[in-house]
Amino acid sequence: MDQDEQNWWRHGIFYQVYPRSFQDSNGDGVGDIKGIIRRLPYLKSLGVDAVWLSPIFPSPMADFGYDISEHTGIDPLFGTMDDFDALVITAHENGLKVILDLVPNHTSDQHPWFAESRFSRDNPKRDWYIWRDGRSEGGPPNNWLSEFGGSAWEYDDATGQFYYHAFLAQQPDLNWRNPAVRSAIYDVMRFWLGKGIDGFRVDVIWHLIKDEAFRNNPPNPHFVEGRPPNEKILTQYSTDQPEVHDVIAEMRRVIDEFDHRVLIGEIYLPLHRLIAYYGNDLAGAQMPFNFALLSTLWSARSIEKIIADYEGALPAGAWPNWVLGNHDRPRVASRVGKEQARVAAMLLLTLRGTPTLYYGDEIGMQQVAIAPDQVRDPFEKNVPGIGVGRDGCRTPMQWDATVSAGFSTARPWLPLADDHTHENVTNLDADVCSILCLYKALIALRRKLPQLVTGAYRPVAAQGDILLYRRQGEGGTVVIALNLGPEPVSVASSSIGFGREILLSTFLDREGEAVQGALDLRGNEGVILGRSAQAG
Ligand code: NOJ
Repeated sequence: MDQDEQNWWRHGIFYQVYPRSFQDSNGDGVGDIKGIIRRLPYLKSLGVDAVWLSPIFPSPMADFGYDISEHTGIDPLFGTMDDFDALVITAHENGLKVILDLVPNHTSDQHPWFAESRFSRDNPKRDWYIWRDGRSEGGPPNNWLSEFGGSAWEYDDATGQFYYHAFLAQQPDLNWRNPAVRSAIYDVMRFWLGKGIDGFRVDVIWHLIKDEAFRNNPPNPHFVEGRPPNEKILTQYSTDQPEVHDVIAEMRRVIDEFDHRVLIGEIYLPLHRLIAYYGNDLAGAQMPFNFALLSTLWSARSIEKIIADYEGALPAGAWPNWVLGNHDRPRVASRVGKEQARVAAMLLLTLRGTPTLYYGDEIGMQQVAIAPDQVRDPFEKNVPGIGVGRDGCRTPMQWDATVSAGFSTARPWLPLADDHTHENVTNLDADVCSILCLYKALIALRRKLPQLVTGAYRPVAAQGDILLYRRQGEGGTVVIALNLGPEPVSVASSSIGFGREILLSTFLDREGEAVQGALDLRGNEGVILGRSAQAG
């Protein structure tokens, strides 16, 4: 097999599209597949390699598609199967891979499997979901809590038992201890892989297997008031069970029935648990998502430690990856601030490992404040007022200064950011110093310099707000110097080496500058340094 083709997911850059919010083509205020097709040239010009789509399958949309009622169809809101096929063909023609979201942990309560399962205790699909009697003294079978508030158990009058749902009551969990469930979902995978998609991002993969005895979860001694109520207990018995790795190895075998496809796992766990998801002999997920940058304190020393810990913990041969934003977490530009968002971009695109971008981060989209009467996210509706809402990071892509930012001809399903008339793709493309141009330059440089993709990561000791590292390998050595603070700083020549030249600054105004002696960085500036031409 061609090495490049085999390694595409190691060498490529991933871009997450939240389909509801990317591009509307039929004027209903919700993005769709035809809209995504229309914007493929944009993704190509940005330079990314793979597009991951959040769910587009038939769904009552209680959790905006993460509640699937038919696994092998397309929700009419997003278009038709013909649209989907056209998307895959057009993406591939443009050199872009297509990744779908696989949601195996739960279905919609409107899924025919669940309708059968809840019908009677002796229905053949009863055991496809997790049904238990209540406690003899009354109440749910155990103390497990839903991530979206309240008990994780819902009583069903029809058969007098409770079913388990780690998320909404409209999202009953499948029973992954049942082999029939496994093979049904593997067939779903084969269906889409057979259609030519290039892989899956697997939703909450660490949730798939629960404790066989359904023991009570222990209380969380470190619960912080004001945090979501589900954090009051730990998820010791409800997630991350040892048997989950057998399931993932099976999923991987399905992936490997097809040539060069990728299995990405969504996993929010501490590092030592996360890396287990590569599997024994790396036969698990090729890319267990690394979300460390989503929650870190934004300081040079914290990030330096995160990278060192991650690099140090990776099993031999495991390929790293980094994520800066997604549809569940506040926008990076709001987490770290507008100035640091550019530094964050340089970090993401110069670290060792596959980067995943979240749509709109490349134009610096901010978390949008959502008025109470505009809230759509069920998490915010269930647990209001403590800031868990995810609508603010799911607002429509800002394409231009026309009506609804070029996203739709109608009123969008979520409000647009106030700044959309100037902070949009058209304007930022025309501004040679914009964050969008920075993203394009970073991606282009990553393409040009193999050491940024395959080179080793070598930290360089630094102080204060400076984060310093080299990427070293085929093509030589480049040095990355990031100023994580607002004040100017100077980096000693002994740290960066002599005979250096600036290949790229986050301000996009120092390219080609020779660095004689120390490197002076402005506040919030990052640079990539190469060997200067004169140095030979
Ligand atoms: C993780 C997804 O990213 C999130 O959006 C969803 O609400 C939950 N899984 C439940 O499927």
